Amino acid sequence: MCLSLRDKSLFRQQAFIGGNWVDADSGRHVPVYNPATNDVLGQMPWMGAAETRRAIECAEQALVGWKKIIAKDRATILRRWCNLILEHKEDLAQIMTAEQGKPLSESRGEITSSAGYIEWFAEEAKRTYGETIPAANKDQQLLTIRQPIGVVAAITPWNFPAQMIARKCSPALAAGCTVVIKPAPQTPYSALALAALAQEAGIPDGVLNIVTGKAGEIGDEMTANPAVRKLSFTGSTVVGKVLMEKCALTVKQVSMELGGNAPFIVFDDANLDLAVRHVMASKFRNSGQTCVCANRIMVQKGVYDEFASKLAVAVNKIQVGPGNEADVTLGPLIDDRAIDKVDGLVKDALDKGAKALVGGAPLDIGELFYKPTVLTGVTQNMQVFHKEIFGPVAPLYCFEDEDEAIALANSTRYGLAAYFFSRDVGRVWRVSEALEYGMVGANSGTLSSEATPFGGIKESGIGREGGKYGIQEFLEIKYINMGLEE
Ligand code: SIN
Repeated sequence: MCLSLRDKSLFRQQAFIGGNWVDADSGRHVPVYNPATNDVLGQMPWMGAAETRRAIECAEQALVGWKKIIAKDRATILRRWCNLILEHKEDLAQIMTAEQGKPLSESRGEITSSAGYIEWFAEEAKRTYGETIPAANKDQQLLTIRQPIGVVAAITPWNFPAQMIARKCSPALAAGCTVVIKPAPQTPYSALALAALAQEAGIPDGVLNIVTGKAGEIGDEMTANPAVRKLSFTGSTVVGKVLMEKCALTVKQVSMELGGNAPFIVFDDANLDLAVRHVMASKFRNSGQTCVCANRIMVQKGVYDEFASKLAVAVNKIQVGPGNEADVTLGPLIDDRAIDKVDGLVKDALDKGAKALVGGAPLDIGELFYKPTVLTGVTQNMQVFHKEIFGPVAPLYCFEDEDEAIALANSTRYGLAAYFFSRDVGRVWRVSEALEYGMVGANSGTLSSEATPFGGIKESGIGREGGKYGIQEFLEIKYINMGLEE
């Protein structure tokens, strides 16, 4: 291990099933790399269907006891988990930066927000209310109660290796469900460190399980196994559709947090400095590898040149490098496929007439670094308009009026996040309503928090994470008609 952690026991290279730290049945491991240096960080068990089945069995057995624990006590256990995460924030941030690449400041922020989700849902555990319904007949009492769905499978991505686990697992556990998690193969160590702290917090054996390894086999078992009653997935729309199809065979509930193609609209009455500050946060956080990243930056004709120059000044100040170095604000991309994709999109735009005002090519400080880029003169016939870039590239489109901006913004099959900047209060309301997205930032480039519903419409997903809605994703409504005649 090349990390200097205060608590070395947080760096786990085994999976976590039924409260035991285990290797693959075959004994096989695969390496996990640091994307900034290409060094091997450690090994990860290469598990498949058999180990996943065992984890699901453990979760099924543990469900019997966990769902009976009173909500207040489940909340106390989750609260302990949250406190331990905060106590070990620095080590968890080091692990995350090493496996994912993001700057340490962002990793620390992600750990804090992961703890925030757990704290939020610990509280929500106590508020899973049912209701009474006035009956038409005096001999009946009608009511509903909410009960945990059962065993939940969670497939989480590499871009937010801790937060996505907190966001899915804490509401599931708070609701009384048990979980089997498959973290992304690029970032297993954040997940395993969280599991170590969950164990220390007293989450009973089998309630939280982590399986690492072959995505296809693990996913097939999770989707086919009838004991799993819900699948929660964050990842691409393409994979989400396949998982939904597979879940249909056992009629599982699904929560899908899928791809985006976020418009970021700057109207000519906007505060341009504010818009630049927010587009920087929205576009370049996590090297542009978030599904809510500004993907199409649309600027009204009258302020296009001024906005582009101000953005270029801000982008030129970005410090690119390994995330664990002081002052670095932009780390590497996750792997070579990511670099090839981003570079391909930029080349296509340049070939079709766009100009690179800043950047426009990979950076030679390592294999996975890309220059923060601003493209001007970008048009709809370029691939970058239609694809999720997932990289530090800001393409600027020009529009004439509000109707055109809204039509352009909505002309996509995605509907996750949208942003716009305007100082006209009438427009702020009109555009907020007209944008076909699950989340809208009106004069704001940031959206997610534990208190608010995160999720998309159209092909960006189903369901909401966070807020008072998040826990409902893991509860079933049971209607009880109580006859009062004896
Ligand atoms: C993402 O899911 O990629 C974004 C997560 C967030 O902003 O919280």
